[in-house]
Amino acid sequence: MKHSDILDELFDNFLNHARIFRNRDVLRHDYIPSYLPHRESEMRRVGEVIAPALKECRCSNLFIYGKPGTGKTAVTKYVLGRVQEKAKELGAPIAISYINCRLVGTEYRVFFYLCNSVGIKVPFTGLALGEIFDRFKDGIDLKKTLLIVVLDEIDALVKSKGDTLLYELTRINENLTRSKVSIIGISNDLRFKEWLDPRVLSSLSEEELVFRPYNAAELRDILAERAKLAFYEGVLSDGALSLCAALAAAEHGDARRALDLLRVAGELAEREGAKQIVEEHVRLAEKRIEHNRIFEAIKNLPLHSKLVFCSVYLLAKANVNDAITGDIYAVYCEICSEVGVAPLTQRRVSTLISELDAIGLLNSRVVSLGRYGRTKKIRLGIGRSIIREVFQNDERLGSLINYAPKCLHKAKDSGN
Ligand SMILES: Nc1ncnc2c1ncn2[C@@H]1O[C@H](COP(=O)(O)OP(=O)(O)O)[C@@H](O)[C@H]1O
Ligand SMILES: [Mg+2]
Repeated sequence: MKHSDILDELFDNFLNHARIFRNRDVLRHDYIPSYLPHRESEMRRVGEVIAPALKECRCSNLFIYGKPGTGKTAVTKYVLGRVQEKAKELGAPIAISYINCRLVGTEYRVFFYLCNSVGIKVPFTGLALGEIFDRFKDGIDLKKTLLIVVLDEIDALVKSKGDTLLYELTRINENLTRSKVSIIGISNDLRFKEWLDPRVLSSLSEEELVFRPYNAAELRDILAERAKLAFYEGVLSDGALSLCAALAAAEHGDARRALDLLRVAGELAEREGAKQIVEEHVRLAEKRIEHNRIFEAIKNLPLHSKLVFCSVYLLAKANVNDAITGDIYAVYCEICSEVGVAPLTQRRVSTLISELDAIGLLNSRVVSLGRYGRTKKIRLGIGRSIIREVFQNDERLGSLINYAPKCLHKAKDSGN
């Protein structure tokens, strides 16, 4: 067969069988649907808070919180999109800056993006925080505008960098004469309030709105709406739809998770040339997503956490399944010298172990030794094969996976 014929056949095959996705993009995380089932009252509340801006009054600050995947970002962006349209129609001087603080990462960069979004020129790095804030303040006052700043995932920023940014922003109106700034802060952490200075909190939460988790029936409606756009008619079986909703509801009512299950199930069905997405595809999708989640979690660990984790792996491989911190530390020091990095103190390593425990990569339990006190026994929280998979793809640490620690007298290579 000629090459062109081979490809023709392949494409024809693909086109004939791949009747699963009508539009894959509507399952992306950043897609904002034009209809958001079960969020009417939240939409109304956000709309009510912002509406005064259309009459050129400063709107109240709004603090929105709820677990991940409960529609906070989607609802806020949807309402603000409509506000922007309305403002244009009326010629109202409203500017909106949406910033995802977790992605942007630092307070400086938040101010940088804020300045950028309203056309104030500032350097990408180099100014002191106070200086860039002053330039923002002076610049915004010249614009004679009502600026609505959305700080999405603000909890992530405040937890790592403190609340200076919020402190300055919530007080900014005291120093503005021609412009006004309103803030919408969005948090995925329900207990975020505890992180804030009381003055900042009372200013930020002039209005408050909680997004509660979706239940299985609500998730089913959300998925059914999205499936109409994403898939060809009749492709999604009823059983698969209900299972996606049930699995996501069992976790914590996370619509993002439900949509991920649906997308991956669709991809699996497409790849095997199936005509319908059935429950089996959803079950496989769940496994695939969980696998990827763990894979990414390990891959993105900081260097020393990776080395500590690798030490526990090497111990497990040598049949030391309930290691104590001292064992782990000995192996850790060896592999540090193997890759040429200076080891941290045992105390630091002990903290890293607790962190790995908190994210489920390690399991530790405290065991009583009777009159000799207590000790902590640590083992892997996940299977070994996925750990090998991650490390094998790691340029710097890949070889460690086959390392036999000298400190283990009884170390025997069990093959994996
Ligand atoms: N009521 C809803 N109707 C339709 N899609 C929704 C609804 N709530 C959430 N989603 C979708 O679920 C995903 C997660 O929602 P998102 O607003 O990002 O959650 P949060 O910001 O609370 O973490 C997004 O893809 C969003 O479009
Ligand atoms: Mg969000």
